[in-house]
Amino acid sequence: MIKALYPGSFDPITNGHIDIIQRASTLCNEVLVTVLPNLSKSPLFSLEERVKMIETVTEEFPNVFVTTYSGLLVNFANEQNAQVIIKGLRAVSDFEYEFQMALMNRKLNTNVETIFLMTQSKNSFLSSSLVKEVARLEGCIKGLVPGPVEEALIKKFQHK
Ligand code: PNS
Repeated sequence: MIKALYPGSFDPITNGHIDIIQRASTLCNEVLVTVLPNLSKSPLFSLEERVKMIETVTEEFPNVFVTTYSGLLVNFANEQNAQVIIKGLRAVSDFEYEFQMALMNRKLNTNVETIFLMTQSKNSFLSSSLVKEVARLEGCIKGLVPGPVEEALIKKFQHK
């Protein structure tokens, strides 16, 4: 039984994240999408809004669940009996940061292994930050995020 955490700030979830979730769900028995605060970012969407969006757009995957945590990821892995942390890699620019986090997580907990899935090339330019910037400036974000997320972004910026 392989239980995996797929952690991130997901502000908001993009089609790139969904591709990783879908692929992880075929490799692992259970995938727990874990929404955590990234201390170096200030989120656009509340934790509740992000969880709700992820739940809506991952409904079709029966072994994918959504949760939140505010402490160290490796401690949550222990609590959940998860052996694996799944991370998506888009480009070399992601590698340094992800490599550092993977090594720190292994130093903190040698029982948890980080597994990297390479993004599909069609998603390699996609990031939550860029999608937010395009939406904020009223550009087209169709095909970059699922429909409900697109609607939530448009609504969010109408009220800004
Ligand atoms: O989607 P993001 O913003 O790149 O996700 C980063 C995240 C939330 C996965 C990372 O900041 C994290 O793991 N935070 C939890 C706290 C923690 O364990 N920090 C030590 C990481 S080595």
